[in-house]
Amino acid sequence: RFSEANPPPPLSMKDSMDLWIENILVLYGDKEPRDTVPVAEGDVSDLMGGPFFLALHRCFKQYGPIYKLAFGPKVFIVVNDPVVCRHILRERSILYDKGVLSEILEPIMGKGLIPADYETWKTRRRAIVPGFHSAWLEFMTGMFGYCTDGLSEKLDGLIAAGEGTAPVVEMETEYSSLALDIIGKAVFNYDFKSTQTESPVIKAVYRTLREAEYRSTFLFPYWKFEPLNWIVPRQRQFRRDMKLVNNTLRKLINEAQHGKQSTELDDLKRRDYENVSDPSMLRFLVDLRGESTTNQQLRDDLMTMLIAGHETTAAVLTWATYELVQRPDIYARVRAEVDAVMGDRQSPPTFQDVKSLNLTRRVLAESLRMYPEPPLLIRRLLADDTLPGGEIGKPTNLKRGTDVFICVYSMHRSPALWEEPDVFNPDRWLKPFSNPGVEGWSGYNPPDPNRASLYPNEVNADFAFLPFGGGSRKCVGDQFAMLESTVAFATLVRRFDFSLGCAPSEVGVDTGATIHTKGGMPIRVRKRGEWDELNEASAKLAQQ
Ligand code: HEM
Repeated sequence: RFSEANPPPPLSMKDSMDLWIENILVLYGDKEPRDTVPVAEGDVSDLMGGPFFLALHRCFKQYGPIYKLAFGPKVFIVVNDPVVCRHILRERSILYDKGVLSEILEPIMGKGLIPADYETWKTRRRAIVPGFHSAWLEFMTGMFGYCTDGLSEKLDGLIAAGEGTAPVVEMETEYSSLALDIIGKAVFNYDFKSTQTESPVIKAVYRTLREAEYRSTFLFPYWKFEPLNWIVPRQRQFRRDMKLVNNTLRKLINEAQHGKQSTELDDLKRRDYENVSDPSMLRFLVDLRGESTTNQQLRDDLMTMLIAGHETTAAVLTWATYELVQRPDIYARVRAEVDAVMGDRQSPPTFQDVKSLNLTRRVLAESLRMYPEPPLLIRRLLADDTLPGGEIGKPTNLKRGTDVFICVYSMHRSPALWEEPDVFNPDRWLKPFSNPGVEGWSGYNPPDPNRASLYPNEVNADFAFLPFGGGSRKCVGDQFAMLESTVAFATLVRRFDFSLGCAPSEVGVDTGATIHTKGGMPIRVRKRGEWDELNEASAKLAQQ
């Protein structure tokens, strides 16, 4: 009934009330539930305290790939099944919007792609996607290398200052600064220089990002009650920060508008970026002929990309480092691969080089499997729908207004889908899926087993792997992010001997929009060739 041309109408207050009444009737046994999905009722208290996605993972182990979280009449359906994910994200994506996530992020991102209503999203997505064209990505790859060199110099400085004692560096912070510098340059040609300095704008951006994360894990949006924004200190701070960030963005947008040169899309895509003074996404969006939008919309687009593209990439680098340093054998192989591809060149990998860094990319994909960013996707159903049932499960009928969580973390660590799901094994991607299966899990739908790929993504993995989401709302920055993290990771791993600065179990996990560490990622940084264990692994590899 609904299509792109005829999307379902937004929810009304009456729809929400109808759903609540139905849930209350079911709760008191006065109405039959629409489905046989198990309810994780007794476990709700377990959800408070500690990362939310880990609590959901505990429920997943008990209830399987589809279950309900019931907070009285408020019910969330939690799904972790590839075929159901494919249904929600690709086949029926028109029926699902971002629900509670839009409500939370709208004050920060406005009508940017993530929280936007359907009509705005459709128009802006069409304008933004061509911005990630290959000439731009190729030029950006050089910029990723340039920014990573800045971090390498900083690490060299810390090693020199250690005078023989290898420094322990909190790498989550360093990766976060690197990713901020990169996204600032890429999106609006602004140099945060956050790897070198701290400025009021950087601090405001960080606090705003923290607030976005805080809000995305807070189910009661108290900041919508205006007086509290004047009373609660963190909300007062947030208003001040937003003012500073918005003023900075407005200035950049005004400058870009001032130099506007209306250009056809094909000409923009053929631009010689080496000779362009401002290669940013902002410039592209301003110059694109036929795309007239407001400065406010541009602000929302840029702010959304800044937030979506910053912590995610930093988290991938952080967790890939954590896993790699515990496996010197794989570390040695990654380094050997980078050496083989780069030969004598000491500069960072280029766009072409990245295509040959297969193991390095698989290491990043494997850490995205183990630590998906974000660990949870959030949707709300805009029309009645029936989720596909599996061989064992029964169809699940959902009512308009139902909130749905896709717990990507659980799916990526499901024993039904992955052999040894908690083991870091970048070579798993070379083999077709084994579909180990778990007997008795209702609703379980195995993905197509004949899948293996050098380029792990949601299509190759038949939606069992969702590193960048899938379907129409898939990440627009996926290629950008993979290029960025491959260049940064390959450069640093080639140049430095990283090892863990504490016991692995001491690295705690915290929640946010992405998976953070609790207390940082201490990494001992030595010059290449100074960590005995890695030297031994490299020597062993050379003999093979
Ligand atoms: C959406 C992951 C980097 C911009 C998404 C989604 C995921 C994701 C899972 C889908 C969310 C959903 O369906 O609810 C990641 C990861 C990244 C990354 C893991 C890094 C490794 C980036 C970068 C940019 C970006 C670098 C921009 C330059 C966006 C935008 C959306 C999005 C604008 C919303 C798309 C839409 O709704 O149409 N990302 N992302 N992301 N991402 Fe990324």
